[in-house]
Amino acid sequence: MDKLKLNNGMEIPAIGIGTYRIKSKDAEPAVEEALKLGYRLVDTANVYQNEVAVGKGIKNSGVPREEIFLTSKIWPQDFKKRKVKKAIKKTLKRLDTDYVDLILLHQEAGDYVSAWQGLEKEVKKGTVKAIGVSNFSEKALKKILKKGTIKPVVAQNEAHPYYQKDATAKLLKKEGIVLEAWYPLGSGDKKLLNEKVFRKLAKKYGKSTAQIILRWHTQVGHVIIPGSKTPAHIADNLDIFDFELTEDELKKIAKLNKNKKYMKIPKLFKKFFALSRINFDKQK
Ligand SMILES: NC(=O)c1ccc[n+]([C@@H]2O[C@H](COP(=O)([O-])OP(=O)(O)OC[C@H]3O[C@@H](n4cnc5c(N)ncnc54)[C@H](OP(=O)(O)O)[C@@H]3O)[C@@H](O)[C@H]2O)c1
Repeated sequence: MDKLKLNNGMEIPAIGIGTYRIKSKDAEPAVEEALKLGYRLVDTANVYQNEVAVGKGIKNSGVPREEIFLTSKIWPQDFKKRKVKKAIKKTLKRLDTDYVDLILLHQEAGDYVSAWQGLEKEVKKGTVKAIGVSNFSEKALKKILKKGTIKPVVAQNEAHPYYQKDATAKLLKKEGIVLEAWYPLGSGDKKLLNEKVFRKLAKKYGKSTAQIILRWHTQVGHVIIPGSKTPAHIADNLDIFDFELTEDELKKIAKLNKNKKYMKIPKLFKKFFALSRINFDKQK
């Protein structure tokens, strides 16, 4: 398994299994299957409402906890120092674990600076090994870098061949923050998966177009967390390290960029996120 070095000295697997929009009944076997196949990174979030199932999948797999890089995310309704502490405690309980390897602030919303400071305390306590952000603008990231004492290790942002130029990319590079790509397969968009360049490369390397896209991500330096509940896809998505795209092929894929985001979050929603009152404990 390829790994990338984080700016705190830890290592993160280059690929993991994502669980967004995967219901508990599917998330439990998907995580178990992924870990049995060799995945060592699992990505979930409070708001996915499947942490209990993810925790069960981990247990069922028989893979020792210390071999797994487990990520979750806290939601803006808990972005207050005191609330962060409680949110982490509940996250650990749902995941049935003593620590998470990485916790992200899920959205740039509410009092994210206080939340960050709360997370720093959890790092010191050892309940969280590393901390990062998701969907943060350059301005917000700079604020975290200025007010915080611990640098984010990861920024989890939308990235795929139609959206290659992350707005924070320069800053991430300068600060040694790894870009973790969500929607690495464009959320399964058939148009993206059927692009001519991917079909040609799939034929050349004897791979699927999804595998070509995922390999491209790893070669441009992204950590990827493709989401899947389909066993054949879960297996295929891991099987991408036995070939390498050439410089010329990477250039052809670069031409697909059209700054197209699949998920656009209106500003108004961010306020709503911070005010939301979702009960994350009502899951099986
Ligand atoms: N931080 C954030 O705000 C944020 C936002 C969105 C997502 N995420 C994280 O990023 C992960 C990835 O995003 P995502 O799951 O939404 O989108 P994605 O990985 O781009 O695409 C998932 C879709 O692609 C399909 N798929 C997976 N592997 C495939 C393959 N080999 N061939 C063909 N289709 C395939 C899946 O269907 P099957 O289930 O049938 O395989 C599913 O419909 C999430 O699961 C989540 O952990 C984070």
